[in-house]
Amino acid sequence: MYIYKTGVVGAGAMGAEIAQVITFAGLPVILHDIEQRFVDKGMERIRSIYARRVEKGKMSADELEKKMALVTTTTRLEDLRAADIVIEAVPEKMDLKKQVFSKLDGILGPSAILASNTSALSISALGSATKRPGRVIGLHFFYPAHVMKLIEIIPGLATSDETVDDALAFTESLRKIPIRVNECAGFLINRLLMPYLNECAYCLEEGSEGARAIDEKIVKFGLPMGPFTLVDTLGLDICKDVGEVLHASYGARMRPAALWRKLFEKKRFGIKSGAGFYTYPGGKEDPELQALAQSAASEDKSGKSPFALDRVLYQMINEAAYCLEERVSTAREIDLGMVAGLGFPQEKEGILRYADSIGLDTVLEKLTSYHHELGERFWPAPRIRRMVEAGFLGRKTKQGFFTYS
Ligand SMILES: NC(=O)c1ccc[n+]([C@@H]2O[C@H](COP(=O)([O-])OP(=O)(O)OC[C@H]3O[C@@H](n4cnc5c(N)ncnc54)[C@H](O)[C@@H]3O)[C@@H](O)[C@H]2O)c1
Repeated sequence: MYIYKTGVVGAGAMGAEIAQVITFAGLPVILHDIEQRFVDKGMERIRSIYARRVEKGKMSADELEKKMALVTTTTRLEDLRAADIVIEAVPEKMDLKKQVFSKLDGILGPSAILASNTSALSISALGSATKRPGRVIGLHFFYPAHVMKLIEIIPGLATSDETVDDALAFTESLRKIPIRVNECAGFLINRLLMPYLNECAYCLEEGSEGARAIDEKIVKFGLPMGPFTLVDTLGLDICKDVGEVLHASYGARMRPAALWRKLFEKKRFGIKSGAGFYTYPGGKEDPELQALAQSAASEDKSGKSPFALDRVLYQMINEAAYCLEERVSTAREIDLGMVAGLGFPQEKEGILRYADSIGLDTVLEKLTSYHHELGERFWPAPRIRRMVEAGFLGRKTKQGFFTYS
């Protein structure tokens, strides 16, 4: 199905960004929220994204107005009646999202797609709130959507292949990079990101290095931001929620460091609340963090293991291997997702190719040694063990997660 008429429900941070992405690709969009002031705020956000392009000389003021003219706003859901696709971006609450889905189901034409931008909720459960579960799908944009290229396409249990194809074609028409991700807690990117962020928090508790020193080492490795700057930017409250969802689904290997809760209790949510791992404005180091980290360490009974790049990065490799084993995604898409979604250094070509270049025997040895030292978080993925036993060691044997000529 050719998708032309679009709607976005929820004009907050993500909804407005998504509407901007749609208009940037030249498609019209109807932006809905419950009150006019929220819609107006969304419109301001869209205009400010375009205004920055004008300031940088990437677009004329005329073009800006033409793009803005592609957005219609409303507070009446019925106005979305003619849409080919509606993307829901209301707050992350299952009951609220189900209500929105059920209402839209009664309003939209029978072939229209109902998509959710949820970060963690079940697409299958959202589909069950409608009479068209085959046309319900997850379209997970990343913040800020006008910059981030990646979109996770997540079919639920009942989503039809045709809907997946339509969603892929639609996201490509938005000039984004879609990857197909089978439904699981955290989908792909958050599932790979959180164990790494969590391990960095444990390192901080163990106190061998401060937040700034760890951030700097990660940036030197080639990621666009250090872990603590990233959490402060994304929102520590949101990261903590995702971490808890993952822990509930995957158990011991995702047990969150106590430091998350300590910071949350102090309302240190990151940049938006004036403090997180750093204090804002300015992103300054803060002695209170050290005290919180020490108190978290005594709760976690953390030892005194030093921060090491392999300690935090191998968490991602291990989780990627679990994802591969569970067929959450393909090796190619996992690596694409890492580069396009997390800014993993392009020259390393993604986390699995990075593991292949280290050698999977070395990865397994290190995971095993961390497992003895630090416990369940490092239980090596069975896939890695099997590959090593079969001599699939990566580039050096020309076969690993990928084959090499
Ligand atoms: N912020 C992020 O970094 C991020 C990234 C990826 C995905 N997401 C997901 O996107 C969704 C939206 O997140 P956000 O950060 O934009 O939230 P937000 O709070 O900024 O915006 C939510 C908007 O929805 C509106 N809303 C509430 N109830 C509504 C209803 N019944 N009908 C229509 N609009 C309604 C609110 O008025 C608000 O404007 C969530 O599911 C979140 O998990 C967020």
